[in-house]
Amino acid sequence: MLPRHGLVSRARSAARAGARWSWCSRVPATWEADLSRRALITGITGQDGSYLAEYLTGQGYEVWGLVRGQQNPRVRQLRQLLGEVKLVRGDLLDQGSLISAVERVQPDEVYNLAAISYVPMSWQQAELTGDVTGLGVLRVLEAIRVCSGISASRSPGRGQIRFYQASSSEMFGMVRESPQTEQTPFHPRSPYGVAKAYGHFLTQNYRESYGMFAVSGILFNHESPRRGAEFVTRKISLGVAKVKLGYERQLRLGNLSARRDWGFAGDYVTAMNLMLGQDEPVDYVVGTGVTHSVEDLLEQAFTFAGLDWRDHVVTDAAFIRPAEVDKLCADPAAAREHLGWEPKITFEELVGMMVEADLELLSSGGDAEDWVGDAW
Ligand code: NAP
Ligand code: GDD
Repeated sequence: MLPRHGLVSRARSAARAGARWSWCSRVPATWEADLSRRALITGITGQDGSYLAEYLTGQGYEVWGLVRGQQNPRVRQLRQLLGEVKLVRGDLLDQGSLISAVERVQPDEVYNLAAISYVPMSWQQAELTGDVTGLGVLRVLEAIRVCSGISASRSPGRGQIRFYQASSSEMFGMVRESPQTEQTPFHPRSPYGVAKAYGHFLTQNYRESYGMFAVSGILFNHESPRRGAEFVTRKISLGVAKVKLGYERQLRLGNLSARRDWGFAGDYVTAMNLMLGQDEPVDYVVGTGVTHSVEDLLEQAFTFAGLDWRDHVVTDAAFIRPAEVDKLCADPAAAREHLGWEPKITFEELVGMMVEADLELLSSGGDAEDWVGDAW
């Protein structure tokens, strides 16, 4: 297992560098033809996973996605969206499955996007959130370490697997300063934020302990028409569409004064890839640097559809969190300077895009009942 991975990586690195391989005869013919960069994405059925898979495929990568469960309905949706992506089974709760997945895929890059990512759920299932969102990072890093033959006494060589961890601005929580940079201390306010902080520090620790190319992107909220219906932006865009089309009259929400730095998911996945392409492994904050309240979001979304949110929005204590993150705002200066990364889509364009997509979805046969929110 171990030499095989090293051989493929060396073959790929050498080919990329245009080198002649004195050991070429040891590489099976099928591998010689297979020299594109290979990425393994956990969480490929999620919002970011789908955008990242599209982006990497467009960059010439061979993309593999880790999927869990039997008959996962999101796999069918993913197939329709991304026919070219190859799938491998695995679960962040199952160490052996992750080792098998890394061994099978032989990736150049691993993007760990899988998580329980909905903050309120992390109070309801705190232990599971710690296990998936926190310890899951350890299991992915261990799978890479074991498959690469890395130990305290054996450092990774050239052509090692590069690792990206999906860290979160939720780690800043009760913010110590605004805007937040890579140096801002963490004060997480939810079990989710605590689990993400564990994954963040562990990624840093594997970099320092084993010399692995392991980085975290501290990404601020990013949204799209593919966003889960439980998150506030999508809940609002679907709510606007349902009101506009006459399916519903009311939208029930929690804290309208919370402020977030909202950007477009399609812009953010490019930063993940840029981070793995750097000479040195460094963590970056990724956001727009502009913050809006939930109320601003309502104003923008309802006005886009020719409605007044005050006629339809009801606040409901059921959606108030045990501890809130009041305001997040990124300082993306380092990402701009060192990665050349900048967001392209503005807040106004993002909200318009989401409302338009949901109006189209619901008016073209999408059953509004499929999207009726829930007890969240
Ligand atoms: P998402 O839509 O909720 O997707 C989560 C993914 O994790 C899904 O593909 C899900 O797969 C997978 N998953 C959950 N439990 C798993 C397990 N036990 N084993 C394997 N896979 C599992 O999240 P997202 O918005 O794309 O975000 C991607 C990542 O970035 C997450 O780690 C999130 O915490 C982080 N993040 C997101 C934002 C944001 O604003 N979107 C900001 C900062 C950080 P199933 O289909 O099997 O459920
Ligand atoms: N979901 C939701 N539903 N949020 C509401 C509602 C509601 O009915 N009413 C008000 N809000 C407020 C929340 O209290 C929160 O302050 C804000 O809207 C944003 O909530 P979410 O969209 O659920 O996102 P989040 O900020 O908690 O978490 C997202 O961003 C993080 C990055 O900062 C998730 O994508 C996390 O996975 C991600 O790490």
